[in-house]
Amino acid sequence: MMPQRKEADNMITITDYINMKAENLKNKLAAGELLCACQSLRFDQGNLPDYENSVLQDVYTLRYGLAYAHEYKRMYARLLEKMTPGRELEVVSLGCGNMVDYWSLRRVLPDDCHIRYHGVDTIDWNDKFTACPGDTVDFTQQDIYNYIDSCEKLTADIYIFPKSIIELEYDEVQNIGQLFLSKGVEKNEVHLLFSVRENEYSLKRDIAKTRCLYGFMEDLGMECELTADSYYCGIEKVIDKSDSDFSINRVQGAYELLRNLSGMCERYNNGCCSCCFCKENRNYPMLNNKYMRYQVFTFRKVA
Ligand SMILES: C[S@@+](CC[C@H](N)C(=O)[O-])C[C@H]1O[C@@H](n2cnc3c(N)ncnc32)[C@H](O)[C@@H]1O
Repeated sequence: MMPQRKEADNMITITDYINMKAENLKNKLAAGELLCACQSLRFDQGNLPDYENSVLQDVYTLRYGLAYAHEYKRMYARLLEKMTPGRELEVVSLGCGNMVDYWSLRRVLPDDCHIRYHGVDTIDWNDKFTACPGDTVDFTQQDIYNYIDSCEKLTADIYIFPKSIIELEYDEVQNIGQLFLSKGVEKNEVHLLFSVRENEYSLKRDIAKTRCLYGFMEDLGMECELTADSYYCGIEKVIDKSDSDFSINRVQGAYELLRNLSGMCERYNNGCCSCCFCKENRNYPMLNNKYMRYQVFTFRKVA
């Protein structure tokens, strides 16, 4: 079992958060909102969901919330095995969504280390996680490139792409790398974290993009020791077996709702089964470690 931190006890549990999203969804559907936007909630062949839609955001969280919170917790824990955090850690989360990676970091970081977290996303997601006492959390609704361009200096310890590198074109990543190169980084040690998608279509593309950023950091005169630990690939195992934060029993009601969504869609009930979401009914939560894929790179300035 992973140790849990006291500061983080002030934070909503991930299972309560998922149950809260299920309640929100139920209320929206009761008020007549449709599930049709969820047709776009797929990641095959480079498809991108319409994250603006608040019903889709709820369904996304029911489907992926537990798995991603778990993956980011593991990813940050792995980073902390290699570094000793000081009193403050500055994190920039690029494509932060609802900031679930902040939740994960708080769960593994020692209480006496405070987080300065900057979330960046083009979409202003509902129900973002809020700061624990002693931490600061802010949000900038901006494109990643424009955000980095607007920073006078790049001062963070950690730059994380939590399932967002997938959504950037290769040339956008190159442009972001150019910005890192032209601005330079303030810290002697900087960590780049990437959570990538395990499907075959995305994986190769994602790794090419993370390599591209890696190259720019090297051009900056920084070195990264690559070890077997730098790339993590999940194993076949249900996630709640490894960490009590993620007890599936506590979210059974929410998952029941997810499984029954097709029956709650007005179009479906009306017999007009034209909605792909209803037909394909991909309404099961991601609950296995085997989908985890992430990279953790620590770069140090060469003296
Ligand atoms: C798969 S979601 C991940 C959200 C969140 N990090 C999570 O783990 O649930 C990808 C996020 O990246 C954001 N994104 C994609 N391209 C972006 C860009 N160029 N600039 C800023 N955000 C971007 C999307 O809006 C979306 O919120």
